[in-house]
Amino acid sequence: MGGFPVERPRRLRRTPALRRLVAETRLHPAGLVLPLFVREDLAEAAPIASLPGVVQHSRASLRDAAREAVDLGLGGVMLFGVPSRRDAVGSGATDADGILNAGISDIRDEVGDDIVVMADLCLDEFTDHGHCGVLTATGEVDNDATLERYAEMGVALARAGVDVVGTSGMMDGQVAVVRAALDDAGAQHVAVLAYAAKYASAFYGPFREAVDSQLTGDRKSYQQDSANRRESMREVRLDIEEGADIVMVKPASHYLDVLRQTADSVDVPVAAYQVSGEYAMVEAAAANGWIDRDRAVLESITSMHRAGADIVLTYWATEVARWIAEGRA
Ligand code: PBG
Repeated sequence: MGGFPVERPRRLRRTPALRRLVAETRLHPAGLVLPLFVREDLAEAAPIASLPGVVQHSRASLRDAAREAVDLGLGGVMLFGVPSRRDAVGSGATDADGILNAGISDIRDEVGDDIVVMADLCLDEFTDHGHCGVLTATGEVDNDATLERYAEMGVALARAGVDVVGTSGMMDGQVAVVRAALDDAGAQHVAVLAYAAKYASAFYGPFREAVDSQLTGDRKSYQQDSANRRESMREVRLDIEEGADIVMVKPASHYLDVLRQTADSVDVPVAAYQVSGEYAMVEAAAANGWIDRDRAVLESITSMHRAGADIVLTYWATEVARWIAEGRA
């Protein structure tokens, strides 16, 4: 007489060693990318209130952070610049001495080819109106005029020494235009990480503080509506047709369905961006003693890999890599 139940899935959950053996998803530092902020005219690193533990870097502290990322074996860093002066067309983005380009050069100088150096290719940090593109006379975001600026910015980032540009502006045709500009400038080697499915999200709130965003209003005329999933497949398809080397879904936690469908439908690496609000929520709940912080961090990132992400951008990248090195994750 056979036992009941016939199948006992709990057998493989009995001990930590068994659970480790059968884990379908494993965290590895090489799959993590650390977003970094570098601010012009800053003497030393400055905290960001809504992102506890994350800082705006000075050029000197940025070098230290990049070095630490290398030492911990992270896959890459994604750099964002915070300029002192802004204008209507985001001139600082294409200025070779602008803070983003200077930061890229600093990191490259500090760590050579030991880590993948990525940078945000978008105008929002550099415009005085805070939009991701340039505006028409009536205040709309002008898609095709913005593409010209993105092409120039891609070349500037390449000249500064970037490995990967993150096209995050959600303008139609941006990947094709940036790819062509890079190729024309002799930067065929620079890869494009396309923010392919990027939603107009409330979860970017703390990031806006991190980059001193000047935005009033929203980005709903260019970023996607959270109601839509099929539309993401269209965005992903277009970005790959236009030459994207990696496609990303953003935010991550609330879009795991989009992430899974993307991973199932493409033959390029897939990234997910665990954005500032996702980070801040866990930190805030943990600060109140309402959640086990470390477990929540690991569970959230593991879920993104389980949903199909090869690469996760997360503000916890350094800390998680340290836990992995210590055998705690
Ligand atoms: C645009 C950009 C944003 C983020 C990354 N790139 C802001 C936005 O789209 O409004 C948000 C990242 C985060 O919230 O952590 N340059």
